[in-house]
Amino acid sequence: METSCDETAVSIVEGRGDFSHTQTRFSCLSDVRVLSHVVESQTSHKPFGGVVPEVAARDHLAKIDEIARQALAQSGLKISDIDGVAVTYGPGLIGALMVGVLYAQGVAVGLGKPLFGVNHVDAHLAPALLLSSFNPAADVGCWLKTPSLEFPSLALTVSGGHCILSELRSPVDRSILGTTLDDACGEAFDKVAKLLGFDYPGGPEVEVRAKKVGKSRYKFASTLQDKSLPTHFSFSGLKTAVLEVVRKETGTFRGKISGASLSDEIKNELCYAFQEAAVGQLADRMQNALSERPYIKRIFVAGGVAANARFRERFEQFGIPLHFAPLKLCSDNATMIALDALLRLNRGEDAKPFPRYQEGLKL
Ligand code: KG4
Ligand code: ZN
Repeated sequence: METSCDETAVSIVEGRGDFSHTQTRFSCLSDVRVLSHVVESQTSHKPFGGVVPEVAARDHLAKIDEIARQALAQSGLKISDIDGVAVTYGPGLIGALMVGVLYAQGVAVGLGKPLFGVNHVDAHLAPALLLSSFNPAADVGCWLKTPSLEFPSLALTVSGGHCILSELRSPVDRSILGTTLDDACGEAFDKVAKLLGFDYPGGPEVEVRAKKVGKSRYKFASTLQDKSLPTHFSFSGLKTAVLEVVRKETGTFRGKISGASLSDEIKNELCYAFQEAAVGQLADRMQNALSERPYIKRIFVAGGVAANARFRERFEQFGIPLHFAPLKLCSDNATMIALDALLRLNRGEDAKPFPRYQEGLKL
Protein backbone atom coordinates (compact mmCIF):
# COMPACT_ATOMS: atom_id res chain seq x y z
CA MET A 1 0.00 0.00 0.00
CA GLU A 2 1.25 3.48 -0.90
CA THR A 3 -0.17 6.78 0.35
CA SER A 4 2.92 8.96 0.91
CA CYS A 5 1.94 11.81 -1.40
CA ASP A 6 -0.91 12.21 -3.91
CA GLU A 7 -1.35 8.64 -5.18
CA THR A 8 -3.60 6.15 -3.38
CA ALA A 9 -2.29 2.78 -4.53
CA VAL A 10 -2.69 -0.88 -3.65
CA SER A 11 -1.06 -3.83 -5.43
CA ILE A 12 -0.85 -7.54 -4.75
CA VAL A 13 2.42 -9.20 -5.73
CA GLU A 14 3.73 -12.76 -5.50
CA GLY A 15 7.33 -13.96 -5.66
CA ARG A 16 8.72 -17.37 -6.50
CA GLY A 17 12.20 -18.75 -5.98
CA ASP A 18 14.52 -19.64 -3.16
CA PHE A 19 13.88 -17.36 -0.22
CA SER A 20 16.71 -18.82 1.87
CA HIS A 21 19.41 -16.18 1.74
CA THR A 22 23.07 -17.14 1.65
CA GLN A 23 26.13 -14.89 1.63
CA THR A 24 26.92 -15.49 -2.03
CA ARG A 25 23.43 -15.43 -3.51
CA PHE A 26 22.04 -12.01 -2.83
CA SER A 27 18.84 -12.51 -4.75
CA CYS A 28 17.24 -15.85 -5.47
CA LEU A 29 13.88 -14.47 -6.53
CA SER A 30 13.47 -16.07 -9.94
CA ASP A 31 10.01 -14.85 -10.94
CA VAL A 32 7.48 -12.33 -9.75
CA ARG A 33 3.90 -11.72 -10.71
CA VAL A 34 1.82 -8.68 -10.12
CA LEU A 35 -1.69 -9.94 -9.36
CA SER A 36 -3.18 -6.48 -9.15
CA HIS A 37 -1.97 -2.92 -9.70
CA VAL A 38 -4.39 -0.13 -8.78
CA VAL A 39 -3.21 3.50 -8.69
CA GLU A 40 -5.48 6.51 -8.26
CA SER A 41 -3.89 9.95 -8.66
CA GLN A 42 -5.61 12.67 -6.67
CA THR A 43 -6.94 15.51 -8.80
CA SER A 44 -8.11 17.85 -6.02
CA HIS A 45 -4.69 19.59 -5.89
CA LYS A 46 -4.91 21.00 -9.45
CA PRO A 47 -6.24 24.47 -8.49
CA PHE A 48 -3.36 24.91 -6.02
CA GLY A 49 -0.50 24.15 -8.46
CA GLY A 50 1.05 21.65 -6.01
CA VAL A 51 0.13 19.01 -3.43
CA VAL A 52 -1.74 20.31 -0.34
CA PRO A 53 -0.90 17.94 2.57
CA GLU A 54 -4.25 18.22 4.37
CA VAL A 55 -6.20 17.64 1.14
CA ALA A 56 -3.99 14.63 0.32
CA ALA A 57 -4.60 12.97 3.70
CA ARG A 58 -8.37 13.45 3.49
CA ASP A 59 -8.51 12.09 -0.09
CA HIS A 60 -6.54 8.98 0.96
CA LEU A 61 -8.94 8.45 3.86
CA ALA A 62 -11.93 8.63 1.51
CA LYS A 63 -10.39 6.23 -1.04
CA ILE A 64 -8.06 3.70 0.58
CA ASP A 65 -10.68 1.08 1.46
CA GLU A 66 -12.26 1.19 -2.01
CA ILE A 67 -8.84 0.93 -3.73
CA ALA A 68 -7.81 -2.01 -1.51
CA ARG A 69 -11.06 -3.82 -2.33
CA GLN A 70 -10.52 -3.16 -6.06
CA ALA A 71 -7.00 -4.60 -5.83
CA LEU A 72 -8.26 -7.73 -4.09
CA ALA A 73 -11.03 -8.19 -6.67
CA GLN A 74 -8.54 -7.73 -9.56
CA SER A 75 -6.27 -10.42 -8.11
CA GLY A 76 -9.03 -13.01 -7.84
CA LEU A 77 -7.72 -13.92 -4.35
CA LYS A 78 -9.49 -14.10 -1.02
CA ILE A 79 -8.18 -11.80 1.70
CA SER A 80 -7.10 -14.89 3.66
CA ASP A 81 -4.69 -15.79 0.79
CA ILE A 82 -2.52 -12.74 1.61
CA ASP A 83 0.74 -13.71 3.38
CA GLY A 84 1.80 -10.26 4.56
CA VAL A 85 1.13 -6.55 4.23
CA ALA A 86 3.72 -3.98 3.08
CA VAL A 87 3.15 -0.25 3.43
CA THR A 88 5.14 2.95 2.90
CA TYR A 89 6.09 4.32 6.34
CA GLY A 90 8.18 7.26 5.05
CA PRO A 91 9.39 9.60 3.78
CA GLY A 92 6.28 11.51 2.80
CA LEU A 93 3.49 13.76 4.05
CA ILE A 94 2.74 12.71 7.61
CA GLY A 95 -1.07 12.88 7.40
CA ALA A 96 -1.04 10.97 4.12
CA LEU A 97 1.36 8.33 5.47
CA MET A 98 -0.74 7.82 8.60
CA VAL A 99 -3.79 6.86 6.54
CA GLY A 100 -1.87 4.10 4.71
CA VAL A 101 0.03 2.86 7.76
CA LEU A 102 -3.05 2.64 9.98
CA TYR A 103 -5.13 0.97 7.26
CA ALA A 104 -2.34 -1.55 6.57
CA GLN A 105 -1.91 -2.19 10.29
CA GLY A 106 -5.62 -2.90 10.56
CA VAL A 107 -5.47 -5.42 7.69
CA ALA A 108 -2.33 -7.12 9.08
CA VAL A 109 -3.68 -7.36 12.62
CA GLY A 110 -7.05 -8.59 11.32
CA LEU A 111 -5.37 -11.31 9.27
CA GLY A 112 -2.73 -12.13 11.90
CA LYS A 113 -0.04 -11.61 9.21
CA PRO A 114 3.27 -9.67 9.30
CA LEU A 115 3.42 -5.95 8.51
CA PHE A 116 6.40 -4.60 6.53
CA GLY A 117 7.23 -0.91 6.77
CA VAL A 118 8.83 0.12 3.47
CA ASN A 119 11.01 3.16 2.77
CA HIS A 120 9.46 4.91 -0.24
CA VAL A 121 12.77 6.08 -1.76
CA ASP A 122 14.36 2.61 -1.51
CA ALA A 123 11.22 1.09 -3.01
CA HIS A 124 11.43 3.22 -6.19
CA LEU A 125 14.43 1.07 -7.19
CA ALA A 126 12.73 -2.31 -6.69
CA PRO A 127 11.02 -2.38 -10.14
CA ALA A 128 14.35 -1.49 -11.83
CA LEU A 129 15.98 -4.42 -9.99
CA LEU A 130 13.24 -7.00 -10.48
CA LEU A 131 11.43 -6.24 -13.73
CA SER A 132 12.84 -5.49 -17.20
CA SER A 133 9.42 -4.46 -18.47
CA PHE A 134 5.90 -4.19 -17.12
CA ASN A 135 2.74 -3.20 -18.91
CA PRO A 136 -0.26 -3.32 -16.54
CA ALA A 137 -2.68 -3.93 -19.44
CA ALA A 138 -0.90 -7.14 -20.50
CA ASP A 139 1.25 -8.32 -17.60
CA VAL A 140 -1.02 -8.32 -14.54
CA GLY A 141 -1.40 -11.94 -13.45
CA CYS A 142 1.56 -13.25 -15.54
CA TRP A 143 4.76 -14.67 -14.08
CA LEU A 144 7.69 -12.46 -15.16
CA LYS A 145 11.32 -13.62 -15.02
CA THR A 146 13.57 -11.43 -12.90
CA PRO A 147 16.72 -10.16 -14.68
CA SER A 148 20.10 -11.54 -13.61
CA LEU A 149 21.95 -8.81 -11.73
CA GLU A 150 25.57 -8.01 -10.98
CA PHE A 151 27.07 -5.89 -8.23
CA PRO A 152 28.60 -3.47 -7.28
CA SER A 153 26.32 -1.19 -9.26
CA LEU A 154 25.19 2.42 -9.15
CA ALA A 155 21.61 3.50 -8.54
CA LEU A 156 19.98 6.86 -9.22
CA THR A 157 16.53 7.69 -7.84
CA VAL A 158 15.11 10.89 -9.32
CA SER A 159 11.64 11.88 -8.18
CA GLY A 160 9.59 14.91 -7.15
CA GLY A 161 11.01 14.82 -3.62
CA HIS A 162 14.42 13.15 -3.94
CA CYS A 163 17.53 12.90 -6.04
CA ILE A 164 19.83 10.22 -4.66
CA LEU A 165 22.90 8.58 -6.17
CA SER A 166 24.08 5.47 -4.38
CA GLU A 167 26.38 2.49 -4.75
CA LEU A 168 24.65 -0.87 -4.40
CA ARG A 169 26.53 -3.88 -3.05
CA SER A 170 23.37 -5.98 -3.38
CA PRO A 171 19.73 -5.12 -4.14
CA VAL A 172 19.26 -4.01 -0.53
CA ASP A 173 22.70 -2.82 0.69
CA ARG A 174 23.65 0.66 -0.39
CA SER A 175 25.80 3.61 0.48
CA ILE A 176 24.73 7.07 -0.54
CA LEU A 177 27.21 8.98 -2.73
CA GLY A 178 25.20 12.14 -3.25
CA THR A 179 21.86 13.84 -2.77
CA THR A 180 20.41 17.16 -3.82
CA LEU A 181 21.62 20.23 -1.95
CA ASP A 182 18.35 22.07 -2.57
CA ASP A 183 15.46 21.16 -4.89
CA ALA A 184 14.85 17.64 -6.20
CA CYS A 185 15.03 17.25 -9.99
CA GLY A 186 11.28 16.55 -10.41
CA GLU A 187 10.49 19.50 -8.15
CA ALA A 188 12.54 21.76 -10.47
CA PHE A 189 10.61 20.39 -13.50
CA ASP A 190 7.35 21.16 -11.66
CA LYS A 191 8.41 24.67 -10.61
CA VAL A 192 9.55 25.62 -14.11
CA ALA A 193 6.27 24.21 -15.44
CA LYS A 194 4.30 26.28 -12.92
CA LEU A 195 6.25 29.40 -13.90
CA LEU A 196 5.26 28.80 -17.53
CA GLY A 197 1.61 28.29 -16.57
CA PHE A 198 1.32 24.48 -16.95
CA ASP A 199 -0.72 22.19 -14.66
CA TYR A 200 0.84 20.23 -11.77
CA PRO A 201 2.79 17.95 -12.08
CA GLY A 202 4.42 19.69 -15.02
CA GLY A 203 7.34 17.31 -15.75
CA PRO A 204 5.56 15.40 -18.55
CA GLU A 205 4.42 18.64 -20.28
CA VAL A 206 7.95 20.09 -20.15
CA GLU A 207 9.16 16.94 -21.91
CA VAL A 208 6.46 17.06 -24.60
CA ARG A 209 7.11 20.77 -25.34
CA ALA A 210 10.91 20.30 -25.40
CA LYS A 211 10.48 17.51 -27.95
CA LYS A 212 8.27 19.68 -30.15
CA VAL A 213 11.07 22.21 -30.79
CA GLY A 214 14.21 20.04 -30.41
CA LYS A 215 16.40 23.16 -30.07
CA SER A 216 16.56 26.46 -28.21
CA ARG A 217 17.89 30.01 -28.42
CA TYR A 218 18.56 29.73 -24.63
CA LYS A 219 21.28 27.77 -22.86
CA PHE A 220 21.56 27.03 -19.15
CA ALA A 221 24.60 25.68 -17.29
CA SER A 222 24.07 22.13 -16.07
CA THR A 223 26.96 21.55 -13.69
CA LEU A 224 27.58 22.75 -10.15
CA GLN A 225 30.22 25.44 -9.74
CA ASP A 226 31.54 23.70 -6.60
CA LYS A 227 33.90 20.98 -7.90
CA SER A 228 34.38 19.55 -4.39
CA LEU A 229 30.93 17.90 -4.59
CA PRO A 230 31.24 15.76 -7.73
CA THR A 231 28.33 13.42 -6.96
CA HIS A 232 25.85 15.86 -5.39
CA PHE A 233 23.04 17.69 -7.19
CA SER A 234 21.61 21.19 -7.18
CA PHE A 235 18.68 22.44 -9.24
CA SER A 236 17.68 25.71 -7.60
CA GLY A 237 20.23 27.80 -9.58
CA LEU A 238 18.89 26.35 -12.82
CA LYS A 239 15.33 27.18 -11.77
CA THR A 240 16.39 30.78 -11.03
CA ALA A 241 18.15 31.03 -14.40
CA VAL A 242 14.84 30.14 -16.11
CA LEU A 243 13.06 32.73 -13.94
CA GLU A 244 15.57 35.39 -15.03
CA VAL A 245 14.85 34.70 -18.72
CA VAL A 246 11.09 34.85 -18.04
CA ARG A 247 11.63 38.20 -16.30
CA LYS A 248 13.43 39.55 -19.37
CA GLU A 249 11.04 38.10 -21.94
CA THR A 250 7.94 39.40 -20.12
CA GLY A 251 9.54 42.67 -19.04
CA THR A 252 8.40 42.02 -15.44
CA PHE A 253 11.05 43.01 -12.92
CA ARG A 254 9.02 43.20 -9.73
CA GLY A 255 5.98 41.51 -8.18
CA LYS A 256 4.66 38.10 -9.18
CA ILE A 257 6.33 36.68 -12.29
CA SER A 258 4.47 34.43 -14.72
CA GLY A 259 5.53 33.20 -18.13
CA ALA A 260 2.01 32.00 -18.98
CA SER A 261 1.54 34.84 -21.48
CA LEU A 262 4.74 34.06 -23.44
CA SER A 263 4.43 32.61 -26.94
CA ASP A 264 4.36 28.82 -27.27
CA GLU A 265 7.62 29.03 -29.20
CA ILE A 266 9.42 30.72 -26.30
CA LYS A 267 7.84 28.41 -23.70
CA ASN A 268 8.85 25.34 -25.70
CA GLU A 269 12.41 26.56 -26.17
CA LEU A 270 12.68 27.30 -22.43
CA CYS A 271 11.46 23.75 -21.73
CA TYR A 272 14.10 22.37 -24.12
CA ALA A 273 16.97 24.37 -22.59
CA PHE A 274 15.88 23.57 -19.02
CA GLN A 275 15.51 19.84 -19.74
CA GLU A 276 18.91 19.68 -21.46
CA ALA A 277 20.57 21.29 -18.42
CA ALA A 278 18.67 19.18 -15.84
CA VAL A 279 19.28 15.87 -17.61
CA GLY A 280 22.83 17.01 -18.41
CA GLN A 281 23.50 17.42 -14.69
CA LEU A 282 22.19 13.93 -13.94
CA ALA A 283 24.49 12.48 -16.63
CA ASP A 284 27.45 14.58 -15.45
CA ARG A 285 27.11 13.37 -11.81
CA MET A 286 26.78 9.79 -12.99
CA GLN A 287 29.93 10.18 -15.10
CA ASN A 288 31.83 11.54 -12.06
CA ALA A 289 30.74 8.58 -9.93
CA LEU A 290 31.72 6.11 -12.67
CA SER A 291 35.15 7.69 -13.25
CA GLU A 292 36.10 7.02 -9.63
CA ARG A 293 34.63 3.49 -9.69
CA PRO A 294 35.87 1.47 -12.67
CA TYR A 295 34.50 -1.73 -11.06
CA ILE A 296 30.81 -0.73 -11.50
CA LYS A 297 28.86 -3.41 -13.37
CA ARG A 298 25.43 -1.86 -13.95
CA ILE A 299 23.36 1.28 -13.54
CA PHE A 300 19.82 1.26 -12.11
CA VAL A 301 17.57 4.28 -12.55
CA ALA A 302 14.12 4.92 -11.05
CA GLY A 303 11.65 7.57 -9.78
CA GLY A 304 9.07 9.74 -11.55
CA VAL A 305 11.62 11.65 -13.67
CA ALA A 306 13.01 8.35 -15.01
CA ALA A 307 9.94 8.32 -17.29
CA ASN A 308 11.63 11.13 -19.27
CA ALA A 309 12.77 9.86 -22.70
CA ARG A 310 15.59 12.42 -23.05
CA PHE A 311 16.98 11.27 -19.68
CA ARG A 312 16.94 7.65 -20.87
CA GLU A 313 18.64 8.65 -24.14
CA ARG A 314 21.43 10.59 -22.35
CA PHE A 315 22.22 7.61 -20.10
CA GLU A 316 22.88 5.31 -23.08
CA GLN A 317 26.28 7.05 -23.42
CA PHE A 318 27.97 5.23 -20.53
CA GLY A 319 28.25 1.88 -22.30
CA ILE A 320 27.32 0.03 -19.08
CA PRO A 321 24.18 -2.16 -18.89
CA LEU A 322 21.31 0.12 -17.87
CA HIS A 323 18.19 -0.92 -15.97
CA PHE A 324 15.52 1.78 -16.01
CA ALA A 325 12.38 1.06 -13.98
CA PRO A 326 9.56 0.07 -16.38
CA LEU A 327 7.75 3.25 -17.51
CA LYS A 328 4.47 2.44 -15.72
CA LEU A 329 6.36 1.85 -12.45
CA CYS A 330 8.43 5.08 -12.44
CA SER A 331 5.93 7.30 -10.65
CA ASP A 332 4.40 6.39 -7.28
CA ASN A 333 2.62 3.03 -7.14
CA ALA A 334 2.16 0.18 -4.68
CA THR A 335 3.74 -2.54 -6.86
CA MET A 336 7.16 -1.07 -6.02
CA ILE A 337 6.31 -1.19 -2.29
CA ALA A 338 5.35 -4.88 -2.46
CA LEU A 339 8.43 -5.69 -4.60
CA ASP A 340 10.71 -3.99 -2.06
CA ALA A 341 9.19 -6.08 0.74
CA LEU A 342 9.77 -9.23 -1.37
CA LEU A 343 13.42 -8.26 -1.88
CA ARG A 344 13.87 -7.85 1.87
CA LEU A 345 12.09 -11.11 2.65
CA ASN A 346 14.31 -12.74 0.05
CA ARG A 347 17.30 -11.30 1.87
CA GLY A 348 16.14 -13.00 5.06
CA GLU A 349 14.99 -9.83 6.82
CA ASP A 350 12.15 -10.02 9.31
CA ALA A 351 9.02 -7.97 8.91
CA LYS A 352 9.51 -4.69 10.78
CA PRO A 353 6.57 -2.31 10.84
CA PHE A 354 8.72 0.79 11.38
CA PRO A 355 12.39 0.16 10.58
CA ARG A 356 14.67 3.07 11.38
CA TYR A 357 15.32 5.48 8.55
CA GLN A 358 18.58 4.61 6.79
CA GLU A 359 21.51 6.43 8.22
CA GLY A 360 22.63 9.28 5.98
CA LEU A 361 19.47 9.36 3.91
CA LYS A 362 18.14 12.91 3.61
CA LEU A 363 14.46 12.94 4.58
O1 KG4 B 1 8.35 9.41 -8.04
P1 KG4 B 1 7.22 10.34 -8.20
O2 KG4 B 1 5.94 9.85 -8.82
O3 KG4 B 1 6.81 11.01 -6.85
C1 KG4 B 1 7.70 11.27 -5.84
O4 KG4 B 1 8.05 10.34 -5.07
O5 KG4 B 1 8.13 12.45 -5.80
O6 KG4 B 1 7.79 11.57 -9.07
C2 KG4 B 1 6.97 12.62 -9.49
C3 KG4 B 1 7.84 13.61 -10.22
C4 KG4 B 1 7.12 14.92 -10.51
O7 KG4 B 1 7.96 15.97 -10.13
C5 KG4 B 1 6.91 14.88 -12.01
O8 KG4 B 1 6.85 16.14 -12.63
C6 KG4 B 1 8.12 14.10 -12.46
O9 KG4 B 1 8.26 13.09 -11.49
N1 KG4 B 1 7.94 13.52 -13.82
C7 KG4 B 1 8.67 13.87 -14.89
C8 KG4 B 1 8.18 13.12 -15.98
N2 KG4 B 1 7.15 12.34 -15.53
C9 KG4 B 1 7.03 12.60 -14.19
N3 KG4 B 1 9.69 14.74 -15.03
C10 KG4 B 1 10.23 14.88 -16.24
N4 KG4 B 1 9.81 14.22 -17.35
C11 KG4 B 1 8.78 13.33 -17.26
N5 KG4 B 1 8.36 12.66 -18.34
ZN1 ZN C 1 8.00 8.59 -5.21
